[in-house]
Amino acid sequence: MDKFSKVLSGKVVAENVLEHVKSETVRLVAQGIKPGLAVVIVGNDPASQVYVTSKGKKAEECGFLSIKHELAENTSEAELLSLIASLNADEALHGILVQLPLPKHINAEKVVQSISPDKDVDGFHYVNAGKLATGSLAQAFVPCTPAGSMVLIEKVLGTDLSGLNAVVIGRSNIVGKPMANLLLAANATVTIAHSKTKELPSVCRRADILVVAVGCPRMVNSDWIKPGALVVDVGINRIAPGTDVGSTSRLVGDVDFDDVLNTVGTITPVPGGVGPMTIAMLMANTLKAACLANGLPQPAF
Ligand code: GUN
Repeated sequence: MDKFSKVLSGKVVAENVLEHVKSETVRLVAQGIKPGLAVVIVGNDPASQVYVTSKGKKAEECGFLSIKHELAENTSEAELLSLIASLNADEALHGILVQLPLPKHINAEKVVQSISPDKDVDGFHYVNAGKLATGSLAQAFVPCTPAGSMVLIEKVLGTDLSGLNAVVIGRSNIVGKPMANLLLAANATVTIAHSKTKELPSVCRRADILVVAVGCPRMVNSDWIKPGALVVDVGINRIAPGTDVGSTSRLVGDVDFDDVLNTVGTITPVPGGVGPMTIAMLMANTLKAACLANGLPQPAF
């Protein structure tokens, strides 16, 4: 971040993470270890197709073995579980990611929990959630969006958040809960707010760090912000053409960026904030999995 700007670009920080992953991968490959990532997609959801393609490409760019399994919409749960069992057993693969959502006839929770915790680079397995919740961070795979958000927070405030109030809006297993655990591990005083929280704006106004992950376009405005706060906007909402200025559809966050800009100390933009960090942390997790599988020290990010 340039020192005169309030806007913290995730693109720049993500590039730095990816450069680090690439250089560490060169060192691993020289030792005969090539990190391997398998991504699995079931069905034809267009957004999921785009995400999976970019994850596979990024893995290649990092120098990984990158494998993609595209399964038909009518694939049975048993077939998917059998594929995962074979990926779990494949020593060339260190990370496995099954893109969500899955078709309705497949029990997503069962599928996610069938991935070996040692290859769970999404960090969704109970074992990894438990390690994070109990503070065994070095051994845990942390879900990529909160992990990336935490890297951005550290860029602004450092690694020790003692004495700071953090509010996370959203209590999902993928973002809100792991985010709160990361902030707690960094000594912040943490509140998890959600749709049933009373007087949400006044809860948020206490936050030195406000992380918003609700999926509600521009919900947070300047009345919710403590002056000088760091605001991390995890939302990615597509606004239909004509809803807004201009005729094409565009992406907005959960925070009303223009409205809060004068009040915040720092804010992550949408797009170009947390989004690029998510995929970079997936690569970092895959590298970490390869290091752990081979008893090597893991690089810090
Ligand atoms: N779908 C949307 N986000 C994610 C993610 O982080 N991981 C997986 N596996 N699927 C997703």
